[in-house]
Amino acid sequence: MQFFDLHSHMLCGVDDGAKTSEEMFAMLEMAYEDGIRAVCLTPHYSPYLFGDTSETSARSFEVLKEYVAKKHPDMRLFIGHELGYHHSGLDALNEGKCRSIAGGRYVLVDFPESVEFFEIQSAMDQLQRAGYFVILAHTERYRCLFNHFGWIEQFVEEGGVIQINASSVNGDWGRGAAKQWKKLVKKGLAHIISTDAHNLTSRKPLMSVCMPFLQKHCDARTIRALTWDNACRVVRDEMI
Ligand SMILES: [Fe+2]
Repeated sequence: MQFFDLHSHMLCGVDDGAKTSEEMFAMLEMAYEDGIRAVCLTPHYSPYLFGDTSETSARSFEVLKEYVAKKHPDMRLFIGHELGYHHSGLDALNEGKCRSIAGGRYVLVDFPESVEFFEIQSAMDQLQRAGYFVILAHTERYRCLFNHFGWIEQFVEEGGVIQINASSVNGDWGRGAAKQWKKLVKKGLAHIISTDAHNLTSRKPLMSVCMPFLQKHCDARTIRALTWDNACRVVRDEMI
């Protein structure tokens, strides 16, 4: 089984992900061992928290590409950003400071845990109107969406993409998030499972942790779509 990890903070010295190149390489090895064969590096673009991460992440990406070319030539790497939504987020995208995924129309967007429903709704509307295909990062974690499942269905109908974190199914982000994760998968609303890895301990680059649930509840085609095919479509800038 091979996996595509579309959401990862493996690049070192950029945000709250890997701290050193040693940690970055060790995370890459852990991912490879797990069966991950494609990764999109998505450092935070949250200027209020981490400053402008464009240049630091570009440098770190070059270092990781060199390592992978030598050690694991069958591993594919892509780069983007995870836009921490804020009032000038759209400007940052349009100006090219915040990267879309692999240079295409898809944008990975996240919000603070405490976000209100209307903030997600208006942000998604704004980005979609501007022509972006929006991927809502770790959708299972937003408490405000627990009671607005209808909006998620509508968002998906209008072309929105739902990303969920592999480890949430096992309760890493609480029981509410685990329940929401399972509901999103069982109702066929989730599109992409990723690791959102930050380190080697508490937030590991592992996709296989969600396989027991998937194998029990989904057919092989769905599992492949969630863990590989849909992410491939995103980096090719194709419709899911
Ligand atoms: Fe993330």
